[in-house]
Amino acid sequence: MKHVFNKGTNDNKPTLLLLHGTGGNELDLLPIAGMIDEKASVLSVRGNVLENGMPRFFRRLAEGVFDIEDLIFRTKELNEFLDEAAVKYGFDRHNVIAVGYSNGANIAASLLFHYQNALKGAILHHPMVPRKGIELPDLTGTPVFIAAGTNDPICPPSESEELQSLLEKANAKVELHWENRGHQLTLQEVEAAAQWYRGL
Ligand code: MLT
Repeated sequence: MKHVFNKGTNDNKPTLLLLHGTGGNELDLLPIAGMIDEKASVLSVRGNVLENGMPRFFRRLAEGVFDIEDLIFRTKELNEFLDEAAVKYGFDRHNVIAVGYSNGANIAASLLFHYQNALKGAILHHPMVPRKGIELPDLTGTPVFIAAGTNDPICPPSESEELQSLLEKANAKVELHWENRGHQLTLQEVEAAAQWYRGL
């Protein structure tokens, strides 16, 4: 997968896995990584799917309607890419924290839904429930920060609450943060995520 890897200055820190939104790329979220942990290594990946020229992490049939077969395939592909990247760049595969926005948050949530040890934790900005009706792996001790907008037309508040509840049923430790905004990624929610991260 197309990506950038920036080695951090402290090997004991997690590696931050950055996952952009629809139409973005691997450069978009780099400034956010610096706000969360300037000493951590950063692996920022570009989604392998194109929708009218816009990179995404998996196909969708319509807005908010996911191509589940492709979601499963792409989630596996990303998980395997993380295994390979950990060997290539020498980071701890068991200490990866995802930071995703929108479509990137959805594939990060999908990693949590499908694989027990894909992520040590996750910061999900404006995620949806990636898949309904499946049993999640045991996520005991996995910290997850969800940032949602009360007026988000793409991820309605009920969707954020459902995601929180599904993750909590799998024993993840979830914090749900609200902004009185829409789908945009706000500075305030990034600062809230950074504060949550410092408390880990
Ligand atoms: C998705 O397709 O993952 C969601 O609708 C969010 C987005 O627009 O990327």
